[in-house]
This record gives sequence, structure tokens and C-alpha cells, in this order.
Amino acid sequence: MSEPYSDRGNKDRSITKSSSAGGTMTQAPERDRPDTSRDGGPVLIGDNMTGGYGGGADILHDCTIAVDSGEIAVIVGPNGAGKSTAMKAVFGMLDVRKGAVRLRGEDITSLRPQERVAKGMAFVPQTHNVFTSLSVEENLEMGAFLRQDDIRATMEQVYDLFPILRDKRRQPAGELSGGQRQQVAVGRALMTQPDVLMLDEPTAGVSPIVMDELFDRIIEVARTGISILMVEQNARQALEIADTGYVLVQGSNAYTGTGKDLLADDDVRRSFLGG
Ligand SMILES: Nc1ncnc2c1ncn2[C@@H]1O[C@H](COP(=O)(O)OP(=O)(O)O)[C@@H](O)[C@H]1O
Ligand SMILES: [Mg+2]
Repeated sequence: MSEPYSDRGNKDRSITKSSSAGGTMTQAPERDRPDTSRDGGPVLIGDNMTGGYGGGADILHDCTIAVDSGEIAVIVGPNGAGKSTAMKAVFGMLDVRKGAVRLRGEDITSLRPQERVAKGMAFVPQTHNVFTSLSVEENLEMGAFLRQDDIRATMEQVYDLFPILRDKRRQPAGELSGGQRQQVAVGRALMTQPDVLMLDEPTAGVSPIVMDELFDRIIEVARTGISILMVEQNARQALEIADTGYVLVQGSNAYTGTGKDLLADDDVRRSFLGG
């Protein structure tokens, strides 16, 4: 827990803004959030979740995913394994028939997504995660719709994290590149000042260089104390920055461990990381 991220991710900090100017993301004020890390348990856990869509068959089978405070947890696994379904279940977009979702120990299984946002969760879904006809800045404003306070400081923090978005703030998000759109989506989620940020394939469809940059930004967000729960297709690279990794197969936990352990595991390598 106390170990910094010094051995992780892309070491090239040349694209990283100095954070000495106060440009780092800050965590949300207290609001209605109880103390988070009193017992050192996970800040967020989908615990033994079983469930599916509508009246359909179960997709998740006793599936558990969790993230500890300030850490990065990564979910990997083949297409159709239920990664997105697990994220939706944790965010309240799916009926969990068995099991529970707990945020800082509080059972939130019956809360609607918007109520979870009010409690400090943010979710960037895999698709349709920006309003393409709205400008970048309008997208960020939409992210803050639940807030009553002044959002300008948070917006500046998002622009400090993703400087290209400041340059393009008047442009429709639909005109941006894939990587820039993902920055808009992450920025919009950060506008709620979450303490848990859930990302479903934030690097989908971007080049390796853009992927590295996005991972760097995600590490930067985690360093501010925001916990990250993330699904990734780029399993190897994602596990390199993961404190905890989950391999899901057919809606169940196949392997769980530290990112390092999973990367070193022969079975995981052979089956899920291309050898
Ligand atoms: N909205 C939905 N309604 C019904 N079934 C769905 C829906 N979304 C996904 N599924 C099914 O759930 C299973 C898991 O899908 P998904 O969670 O998207 O996998 P992954 O994100 O790991 O690729 C698949 O069999 C998929 O067909
Ligand atoms: Mg998916």
C-alpha cells in the first residue's frame, strides 16, 4: 500500500505536467461520505455477484471484483467474459441476484447509479461515453450536473491533466480523435470529484503511444488518492500498472492476484497474455 508507483507504467515523464503548480486532481470534499479507509478493506467491492440482463440467464457467477483505497485494480479476460457486465453490476445497471456491492463497507446493492455517483463513484462505460455533438467543455459541465458548488477549479484540474482538452474546449467532442475522446470521457467522470473511478476499456482503439499516455494519466489520477477499477483489453500493459488483477472467464473469477503475480503466472501468460 505504501509503496509508490515508482516501478510502474511508462517512465517517460516528459509528457507529464509538473504538479507543483497545484494542478493535480484533488479529492472530493466530505459531503455525505463516511471515512473511507478506517479498516483497510476494499473501498469498493462487488462481492460474489451473480446476475444477468433482465430476465435472461445469469452472466456473472459468484464474481468478485474489488479495489482498495488509492489503488488500481484491473479486470482482464477474453471477449464476452462478462467484464463489462461486472462493471455494470458494480455501478447498479444490472440486477444482482446474489451477492452484494459495498462501498466503504456500506451495502449499496439496491442503489441506483445516480445515487452511487452522489456517494463518490464514477463510471466511464465502454461505448457512447461522450456527447459527440456537445463541445468538450459542455461534456465536462454535463459531468458536474449533480454538483451545486463552483466547478471551475475541477475543470482546470481536468485541463491540467489533459492539456489538449483545454485547446479543444470549444470543439464538438465528435471531432476529436479516439484518444482525445477517451480523455473527455475520463475528464467528464472526474468532474463529479469521485473517489472511485471505474473505466471500461479506456484505451480501446487507440495507438500504443496514446495507450501509454492514457495509462500515465490514470496512474496520475490514482496518485491523488482516487481508486481506479478498470477493464482492459491490453492485458499485459494494464497488469503492469495494476495493484490487483482479476482474470474473468465466463462470468467467473479464473485468477486473482497482484499485477506482478499474474504477469509471472505461466497459466495466465499462456491463456490470456499470448504466451
Ligand atoms: N445488454 C445485454 N443484454 C443481454 N446480454 C448481454 C448484454 N450485454 C452483454 N450481454 C452478454 O453478456 C455476456 C458478457 O458480455 P460482456 O460483459 O459485454 O463481456 P466483455 O465485456 O467481457 O467482453 C455476453 O455473452 C454478452 O452477449
Ligand atoms: Mg466489454
